[in-house]
Formats: sequence, C-alpha cells, structure tokens
Amino acid sequence: MLKGKKIILGITGSIAAYKATYLICGLVKKGAEVQVVITPAGKEFITPVTLSALSSHPVISEFFSNRDGSWHSHVDLGLWADAMLIAPATAASIGKMANGIADNMLITTYLSCKAPVFVAPAMDLDMFAHPATQQNIDRLRGFGNHIIEPGEGELASHLVGKGRMEEPDRIIEILEEFFTGSQDLQNKKILITAGPTYEKIDPVRFIGNYSSGKMGFALAEECARRGAEVTLVTGPVSLTVTHPQIRRIQVESAEEMYKAAMAEYPQADAGILCAAVADYRPEQVCTEKIKREKTGEMQLRLIPNRDIAASLGAIKREDQLLVGFALETTDGLTNAASKLEKKNLDYIVLNSLQDLGAGFQVDTNRITIIDRKGEITAYPLKGKKEVAQDIIHKLVTLVS
Ligand code: PMT
Repeated sequence: MLKGKKIILGITGSIAAYKATYLICGLVKKGAEVQVVITPAGKEFITPVTLSALSSHPVISEFFSNRDGSWHSHVDLGLWADAMLIAPATAASIGKMANGIADNMLITTYLSCKAPVFVAPAMDLDMFAHPATQQNIDRLRGFGNHIIEPGEGELASHLVGKGRMEEPDRIIEILEEFFTGSQDLQNKKILITAGPTYEKIDPVRFIGNYSSGKMGFALAEECARRGAEVTLVTGPVSLTVTHPQIRRIQVESAEEMYKAAMAEYPQADAGILCAAVADYRPEQVCTEKIKREKTGEMQLRLIPNRDIAASLGAIKREDQLLVGFALETTDGLTNAASKLEKKNLDYIVLNSLQDLGAGFQVDTNRITIIDRKGEITAYPLKGKKEVAQDIIHKLVTLVS
C-alpha cells in the first residue's frame, strides 16, 4: 500500500534520530519514495550522507544550497508529498509546529504541507509529561495531525517512562493502515446525524445545545475518504463539507431530523448517530415574538421529542448496522451500556463531559467504545479526525 507513495521524513534533534535509518529502509522496501528533511540539530545525531545513501535522494536541511545557491522550495515539497512523517519529533520542534515558528526548512515544509501529517514524539518522560508539551501536542491534534503515541520504557537518560519514539516497524504499519483503509467502505451507504437541533420557542428564540457538528462531520469525511456514499443529516452548524461523496441534508429541529433519518436509513448499510438531539421541545411555538412587557413571568411547557436512535433501532434489518453516541456527565459506562441495549445499537461511543478536551466544540475527544459482546475499548484523547478513524475502524470490522 505504500508503493509509489511520496513521503517526507522530517528528522529532528533527538537520540532517536538513528531510528530514522530503519524507517527509511522499511519505507523504501515497501516501494515508497522518501525525501528526508532534517533540522540543524538533527544533523548532530545522524549524518545526511547516511540518510541520503539510504533514501537515494539528497537530504534537505537548509533553505539554500551552499554549493550553487539554489533554493529549496518548501512549498513544492509540501505539495509533492502524499504524507509527511516527523520522526523523531522533539519537544522543541513540536512547540514550533504548534505555534507556527517557521525558523527552519522542516517547520516551513510542515506549514506548507497539504498531505496528512504524522508526528512521532521522542523525548524524556518529564518533558513529554510537561503541560507545555501536552498542550502543544493537543494543538497538533486539533490541526488534524496524527500523533503516534510514544511508548514506555528505558529512555536515553536511563530513566524509565513514556517518551520512547514508537518502533519504526509499527510506524510503517500505521502509515500502511492509513493508506489501505482508504477504500474499505466502497459501495457502502452510511447515514450520519450531526450537530445540535433547535427547538423553536418563538420566531427569535429556541432551545438548543453546544454541539458544533465537528465530531459528526469528521465521521462523514472519514467514511467518504474510505469510499462510502455518505448522507449527512445535520442540524444548524457553521461547518462545510469538502468531500464530493457527502450529501448534506440540512435540518433544524429534532422532528425534521427524525423524518430525514427515517427516510434515509432503509437505503443505508449503517447509521451513525452523532447529533445532540433535543429530548424536549416547547408544546406550543408562538408565532409572534414573546414580549416581556405583555407576558411577564412565563412558563414553558415541554413535550418529549421522538428518539431517532431508538426508532432506527426498531426498524433495523439484519444486514444493517447502527452506531450511537452517549454523552454523559456521570456513570458513563452504565448509562452508555443501557442506551446500547434500549436503542438496539451495534456499538455505542461514550464521551464524557468530565474529561478535559472531550465533547462539545473542542477539536479533540476522548471516547470509549462498548459493543454488544460487552467488549469495552477506551482510547486516549485524540483529534476528532483520529477519533473518527477509531470509530470507523470498528465499523469496518462489522460491516459485511
Ligand atoms: O458536535 P461536537 O461539538 O463535535 O460535539 C460532539 C458531541 C459531543 C455532540 C458528540 O460526540 C456526541 O456525544 N453526540 C451525542 C450527543 C447526545 O445527544 O447524546 P445522548 O446520550 O443524549 O444520546 C444518546 C444517543 O441517542 C445519541 O446517539 C443521540 O444522537 C441519540 N438521540 C438522542 C435523543 C433523541 N431524541 N434522538 C436520538 O437519536
């Protein structure tokens, strides 16, 4: 799957830079074309001669070539690549990437790169655990970069902890998984709900919630990227879809979302219900703007909305899948397991507002997937793009 893929390998100043030789050999063996870009500090750990001999390409480090004054275009390089892998990525380089400090060829290439970016941190355990590093890594996740978590073990300092760069073989596997995953939902039709619903009170007011649509849109993009035809039923959000295989149906209220989802699900192979649907709506919608002077104190009588997930669960056929979300504030696992059962879902994605960086509006999420066999898989905090990949990876294992 890496055959013919053009990979920029960014190497920064870490003792783990020697592992880049294994990365280059492994990638070249799989048929990839590797262009090394190294920081000045990286060259203190490994020589460009070694890297260039293994990759069969001159190594790029400076903006200008000292020999002939020619200019290395970071923009061309960024556009050339199918993927950029920064391994090892030091705390300093991660900080520069997170903050757009373009003071070397590697960071300028990163900022120009249109292809997916994979970052494999390598550093001492305390540096990795420091909130500054963690915040920078979270920012990269938020940009949609794929963070390849470091492993635990003995570090260059002889201390033991988390900070060892992931092994080259595993990094290559991750890249392969990324590229192979691309068409495993071909010919599949997926219905996704996303965003909030607005329940009208009067022409200017509504009951809503904080959903931005980011999680649902990331799922739609991921399914489309893997070849599926996606119908995205979305409440009011300011996001746009980019993939041509996503058909967007815009709704406002829970009732409109219910009608669209019920009409679309029979044609779908799977439904993923990520929308934050209002459980209640005002019994009466005022046709005129409610005036405080006239109304004074007022009471709003609410009636329950239909449960879209449970309704789809009730009409689900043997050949269809249904995936729900559970947004919880307490007793996450118990509540999610009960929703899985009640709504006849195949698996449920639990996210808790107790977890920092999870849930509404943020670019990251921390999820736990619970399936019908009772299998529970907890994932670390990741960018919503990566979270979508984990959720769809599970779907692909179940879809026939
Ligand atoms: O949009 P973002 O800002 O990115 O935030 C993402 C998210 C937090 C909204 C998302 O990750 C999420 O958790 N979505 C589900 C929110 C929710 O309504 O959870 P719930 O536990 O109340 O509902 C359980 C399931 O039933 C959900 O799949 C929900 O879509 C569905 N439901 C709920 C009520 C209803 N009337 N109809 C439904 O289909």
